[in-house]
Amino acid sequence: MGSDVFKEADPLDRILPVEIARVTERAAVAAAMLRGRGDERAADQAAVDAMRDELHAMAIEGTVVVGEGEPDDAPMLFVGERLGRGGVAVDLALDPLEGTTICAKSLPNALSVIAVAAKGTLLVVPDVYMEKIAIGPGYAEGVVGLDRTPRENLEALANAKGVPVDRITACILDRPRHAKLIEDIRATGAAVRLIGDGDVAGVIHTTDPEGTGIDIYMGIGGAPEGVLAAAALRCTGGQIQGRLQLNSGEKRNRADKLGLRDPERVYSLSDMVRGEVIFAASGVTDGNLLDGVRFYSNRVETHSLVMDSRTGTLRDMRTRHLGSTFFER
Ligand code: FBP
Repeated sequence: MGSDVFKEADPLDRILPVEIARVTERAAVAAAMLRGRGDERAADQAAVDAMRDELHAMAIEGTVVVGEGEPDDAPMLFVGERLGRGGVAVDLALDPLEGTTICAKSLPNALSVIAVAAKGTLLVVPDVYMEKIAIGPGYAEGVVGLDRTPRENLEALANAKGVPVDRITACILDRPRHAKLIEDIRATGAAVRLIGDGDVAGVIHTTDPEGTGIDIYMGIGGAPEGVLAAAALRCTGGQIQGRLQLNSGEKRNRADKLGLRDPERVYSLSDMVRGEVIFAASGVTDGNLLDGVRFYSNRVETHSLVMDSRTGTLRDMRTRHLGSTFFER
């Protein structure tokens, strides 16, 4: 890796991955304290407060471009909110608690996630649904795409992987809207792994098919989660396409205001993340990807993944937080 990846002008140069990890660690711990209490809002709010405090302490001039919602709907970490105590100008895509229901029910794969990129390089999307298709690294560009049928995509993927289609597993959110998609996938012989929530984790699972058993992510989830997942894939390798679901005039207007004029447009990974990015995720509950927060009598342990697209570094970080000062500021 040449030294020019750390150019003086690179705003990410001044942000250490460990600082980013602290942001998701702290949000994950706050949410984990409310795991299994059946209260989505309380867990989400705790994660939001913790992440916001931690971001405010950073030497950045951050702008939330993917956050808790549009300014009218979200009092904190809303799209457009400025965070940090001053410094390099960066875009922030974040979800302090990805999988609020998962956390409330103490089910697997709730995460705290953030992506940090140079200002103006992350796609700003309205809080609407997005149809997505994603695969991990190692495939030729365009092997799957939203303009093809599920059968075409699964057969192309199986062919590229060198296996019969019945050895392919697709991950999909378990929602009534996916009934036809699930039927079409099963008709090819491929398997379907249904998840209750958490499609950022669902997409990231495609980057390690041997570990997770998932080859492809398909279906409709949140658009903000699509950009976050794209940021993760920018670091790990892999492909994602997303198409906003703008099925009303009101949604088309919201997209239009953000400059997204073509309601049918398919966004590629490089449309969603137009430059280098640092991505961090910390486990709230245990999952395939990350362990959840562990509370001990004298410490708290967190498990995070911190990735930097500039250097191709994927850090698997287990952190012991001794004492309680870190969490009780
Ligand atoms: P929250 O963390 O906001 O609850 O989102 C969880 C999630 O499953 C996302 O991962 C996914 O993109 C979205 O909800 C799907 O939305 P819906 O639950 O409306 O199908």
